[in-house]
Amino acid sequence: MAGNFSFYLVTDPHFFELSLGGEGEAYEARSRTDQKCVAETGAIIDAGFLKIAEDSETKVVLIPGDLVYRGEQASNEGFIKKLEWLEERGKTIYLITARHDYGETPYPVGFVGKECVRVEGTPREKLRELYHHYGFDQAISEHKSMSYVVELTKSIRLLALNCDGDCKDFRGLWPDQLEWALEQIKDAHENGCYIFAMTHYPLLPFSPFANLVADTHLTDWEMLANTFADAGLDLIFTGHMHAQAVTEFKSKNGNMITDVQTGSFVGYPCSYRKVTFLDDDKIDIKSYTIEDFDWDKGGKTAEEYFKWRFDRMITDIIDAMAYDFAFFTRLFGGPEKNKKLKVPVTAVGRLLQKMTLKGLGRLLFFKVDKSIENILVKDLAVEFVRNVFGGNEPYVDGTPVNDAVRKLLKRLRPVTKIIEKKAGAKNPVLSDIDKFVLDTIGDEKQRDYNTVLNIKWKREEQNQCQKQA
Ligand SMILES: [Fe+2]
Ligand SMILES: [Fe+2]
Repeated sequence: MAGNFSFYLVTDPHFFELSLGGEGEAYEARSRTDQKCVAETGAIIDAGFLKIAEDSETKVVLIPGDLVYRGEQASNEGFIKKLEWLEERGKTIYLITARHDYGETPYPVGFVGKECVRVEGTPREKLRELYHHYGFDQAISEHKSMSYVVELTKSIRLLALNCDGDCKDFRGLWPDQLEWALEQIKDAHENGCYIFAMTHYPLLPFSPFANLVADTHLTDWEMLANTFADAGLDLIFTGHMHAQAVTEFKSKNGNMITDVQTGSFVGYPCSYRKVTFLDDDKIDIKSYTIEDFDWDKGGKTAEEYFKWRFDRMITDIIDAMAYDFAFFTRLFGGPEKNKKLKVPVTAVGRLLQKMTLKGLGRLLFFKVDKSIENILVKDLAVEFVRNVFGGNEPYVDGTPVNDAVRKLLKRLRPVTKIIEKKAGAKNPVLSDIDKFVLDTIGDEKQRDYNTVLNIKWKREEQNQCQKQA
């Protein structure tokens, strides 16, 4: 009976083989701008895999890509050793590879002192051979895109979709790949089986900003979401954004599909999920985080350490606004190209160093609740970003922070009105800036970690399938 089938979901483990260099100036410079851990990945993966191994009731582990740091051959080989360890403890692993798993320019790198050095990468065409044991060998159908279908039980199938696309701007499904996927969904349903999918890239934009950034979701996501939902696919597990999010979409024909995106195993909050099929057309989703790992964390708990790693990526940028314009502009043309911005950016940066919410209120003539008046604006800004990625954004209507942000938005109305008019015409999500901001900081549903979802089991057909089994 499929009733209590369960699996673990681990995403974006990004394993980095430590012998390629996990310290020194070049390593530090690179890792500071990274929200996830790098040198620590081996220790974190070991700790997480140990927890999964200890749960004897769950036999299956799914991993939707970004297995290693930047496609290093040594990291791929090291990661396979970790998979073998898990396998020896009774787990069956199904995975797909993604864009971080093969080595092409400018990937992959190792670190020696002040230098980033090129190291041997895994060619993309070698990945199937390398990971054949983790899904491809068990496939009941396979597509040349390195996508496949496996039977998890006699009545539950997994549609594992590689979405590397053209390995450049197109991060989607090719027409023949989509056609194959639709055939697989139909075949599962005709055989009375439930089928769900996993891809690396999220299907749906998970936060308002994700509507503005192409790299946050599959290319042509609306077409794919409509097509899949109307084909009866109602559940997809994704990764890539290193964010915890549960997002749903209703097709034009009224069919639902839910994208369960899981944060990176090695980046704040270092989460993984356990998914259990319940008896009554529901699945239970629970999230866990890495509680500890074998590393010198400088006296911090694992949670504090992950938070510190994440925050540093943003505080460095805010600090650079004030004190290091060259660093601040490095990703958009450098200081020369942006020299007109130097004075205002530096002024805002310096102001942000010490401005509290009370100070901001005074400046713009609004009052903030006493309980939050001493919070630094920059700390709150960092927390807003961290919460988007950590999931369950807490600042909903009725909280003092939500109230302060509403008052701020009111004061900024003359400016946001102009943005809405100009940018809103191009991108509807910007046609209401207040909603954009408030939806970013507060999520009424609070289900990014734990939730129970309804799924469409086709009861009669499912029973028939079980009878056949
Ligand atoms: Fe990733
Ligand atoms: Fe990715």
